[in-house]
Amino acid sequence: MNITAVRGFNDILPDRSELWRHIEDEARRIFSCYGFSEIRVPVVERTELFSRSIGETTDIVEKEMYTFTDRRGDSLTLRPEGTAPVVRAYIEHKLYNEMPVARLYYTGPMYRYERPQKRRYRQFYQIGAEVLGETSPGVDAEVIEGLVTLFKKLGVVGATLHINSLGCPECRPRYKEKLEVFLETVKEKLCGNCLRRIEANPLRALDCKNPGCIEATGEAPAILEAVCGECGEHFTALRGHLGELGIEYTVNPRMVRGLDYYTKTTFEITAEGLGSQNAVAAGGRYDGLVKELGGPDTPCFGFAIGMERLVLLLEERSVSAGPLTVLIAMGEEAGKKGTPFVRVLRERGKRVVVDYGDGSLKNRMKRAHRTGARFVVIVGEDELADGVVTVKDMESGGQDRLPPEKAVDRIAAEGV
Ligand code: HAM
Repeated sequence: MNITAVRGFNDILPDRSELWRHIEDEARRIFSCYGFSEIRVPVVERTELFSRSIGETTDIVEKEMYTFTDRRGDSLTLRPEGTAPVVRAYIEHKLYNEMPVARLYYTGPMYRYERPQKRRYRQFYQIGAEVLGETSPGVDAEVIEGLVTLFKKLGVVGATLHINSLGCPECRPRYKEKLEVFLETVKEKLCGNCLRRIEANPLRALDCKNPGCIEATGEAPAILEAVCGECGEHFTALRGHLGELGIEYTVNPRMVRGLDYYTKTTFEITAEGLGSQNAVAAGGRYDGLVKELGGPDTPCFGFAIGMERLVLLLEERSVSAGPLTVLIAMGEEAGKKGTPFVRVLRERGKRVVVDYGDGSLKNRMKRAHRTGARFVVIVGEDELADGVVTVKDMESGGQDRLPPEKAVDRIAAEGV
């Protein structure tokens, strides 16, 4: 029997990896302009980190974590998201002492045992960014602006920014009570999961994808009408900043997010063409999490992009790695002459592969053609005798015999 990949875990093959790299490069470049530095956190953490931060009564913690007991009997979990590990590292290394405001970004795989379908995987990649130590709604807007800039730069079209406020420990309990009373009145329409969580986590009912729950909660009280003065002001200021930055948005009072650590601002960017799994990036403020996990009181804001979904949106756009040159050396002597030539091209940042095959020049040319090479450089007996190489331009079909330095210039003049 052939061994295949595990369901929900995908290979990223060379025809796509260039686009992945292009997205990551652009993200790094733009994050750097916004003052972010990279943090690399482990893939495995103590289970408690996630149950305490994401929330015991969320789908992620209740049924989607890859949790196992290691040989020592410790309960460990493959990270389902990146915020909690970043906060753990921030506290553990006391980054607050060296960075009054820490701007950190990360990339890497996350793991959730969800029902695999298109755009929903069990291993998926995120690019995330977190600002730790800043209260101002200005930073919420600034970070969203960075994300919008990245999407624009990448050529994402048809994206919508949804914003909401989830209040704070002052006002949310009051809203939860109101919502609970409302949910009791539509109880018979709710799914088993929402019914079970009415008391512990009624907000989850607003996030439920079950058609019955969507219908039942249509008239539910809106959290935005129940937030306290401070949260209301934060939200109004955020809207003001977004307006000044020229960023369009819609207020979506039903958007409660699937993680419990949020306070005040939450947001999602959805995109046309992604069907029901249409959130391509999401995040918000989590002012209580650092303290909850044992660190100093630190207001935070961040987001994560779902890489696979972003790649799907951009798939039509081909990002090429740049022209490729194939060197065909006919015989050992020619091979020796070719080596420094290849090195110089690579030093100039060009992509070069050496064809090590034997066989006729015709067959080797065919093979080079199949690699999609833009240039083929041939070194044969004649070329050796004359101190030149033959450069064949596979696009135009033309070919020239040139001294090696000239050939390098000719190839380097093309493309990236
Ligand atoms: P999240 O909404 O759970 O937030 O995930 C962020 C993004 O990851 C989603 O919008 C989606 O694009 C992608 N994603 C999530 N689950 C899957 C999946 N099973 N398959 C494919 N893509 C998926 C968080 O993870 C928060 N840590 C974001 C954040 C950072 N909030 C503050 N800072």
